This record gives sequence, C-alpha cells and structure tokens, in this order.
Amino acid sequence: MANSPYTLPSLPYGLADLAPAYSEELLELHYSKHHQAYVNGANATLQKLADARADNAYEHINGLQKNLAFHLSGHVLHSLFWQSMTAQGGGEPSAVLQAQIKADFGSVDDLRNQVAAAAKGLQGSGWVCLSWDGLSEKLIVQQIQDHQSNAAHGAQSILALDMWEHAYYLQYQNAKAKWIEAYWDLADWAGAEDRLKLLKG
Ligand SMILES: [Fe+2]
Repeated sequence: MANSPYTLPSLPYGLADLAPAYSEELLELHYSKHHQAYVNGANATLQKLADARADNAYEHINGLQKNLAFHLSGHVLHSLFWQSMTAQGGGEPSAVLQAQIKADFGSVDDLRNQVAAAAKGLQGSGWVCLSWDGLSEKLIVQQIQDHQSNAAHGAQSILALDMWEHAYYLQYQNAKAKWIEAYWDLADWAGAEDRLKLLKG
C-alpha cells in the first residue's frame, strides 16, 4: 500500500493574503507545521495499522484507532478551515445560504451568536463547524472537541472555525472573541454556499 495517501493541500491564497486579520507568520506556522503534523500522523498511523495486520499483532489497536481518528480528522478539518477563509470574505452570505441559515437559525446574527458561544465555551481544544445534516435537511452547529469528538455522524461541515490555541494565540493571545470576530471578517460565505449546494444536490 502507498505510504502517504494523505498530502498537505495547497492553500487557496498566499501566506500573506489574509493579513492583517490573520498574519503571515501565524498562517505559515499553522499550515506548514500544525496541519502538516496531522497529515504525517495520519499516514504513519495507516502504516502502523498495515504492519499490525501483517503481523497479526493487535496489542496497540486501541491507540492506533484513536490516533487514526485524531490525525485524520485534524487533516480534514484543517483542509476545510483554509477553504473557509478568503481575503475577500466577510459580509453576509448570498441568497441560497442566507435563506437556509434563516430557516434553520432565525437569522445570520443568530447563527453567529451560537457559533461564538460554542467557540468560547469549548473546554480545551476544538472546533466549531457549520454543518449540513442531510437526515433532517438542516444546517446545524457542531462544537467539536479535539478534532474528532462530540461530532454527529453523517453531518457534513461547510465552514470550520479552528479554536485550538495554535490557531490564534500567536496573534490574538487569549482574546478568543477578537479571533472569532476576525474569522467572520474572513469567512468565505460563497465557498460555503458552493459546498452546501453540492451536499443538497
Ligand atoms: Fe489548527
């Protein structure tokens, strides 16, 4: 089997393009070090699982399965996080996404308030995602612990807010609310709407 099925995706913008809301130094560190580490971790864990199968040696199976969920979810969420921001972001969602948000949350401000509350309320590291639940055909907010816990199976995220300290501390220190405000100024609503349309079919 291939040793590296997971790879670091290209950024949809230059390292300096989100500044000043998201500094070049922070983006470079977050992308090239932290995201890369999850890619490496997911690849290494797949190899260890292949080795375990080959040797029929499963004494570390629980740790390996836990590592797979952690690293692979970290890779997936960071890939969406980069797509969730753009230098031309912010403002209000366009028609289709706005209508869905109003139907499911009341208003865009109601959504923003729920996201901010979930983000500030996170115990430890995690994410807040706007996700499409195909079962109810509604958008939901998910407060994800670490990368892989407290998430509803089946819901597909269309916008991701990284609330790990490594995502903001270098620039915003402990001012979580300022990081959340900056994120809304960068939010790529058009991209989120494209993802929603694909999921709705
Ligand atoms: Fe991160």
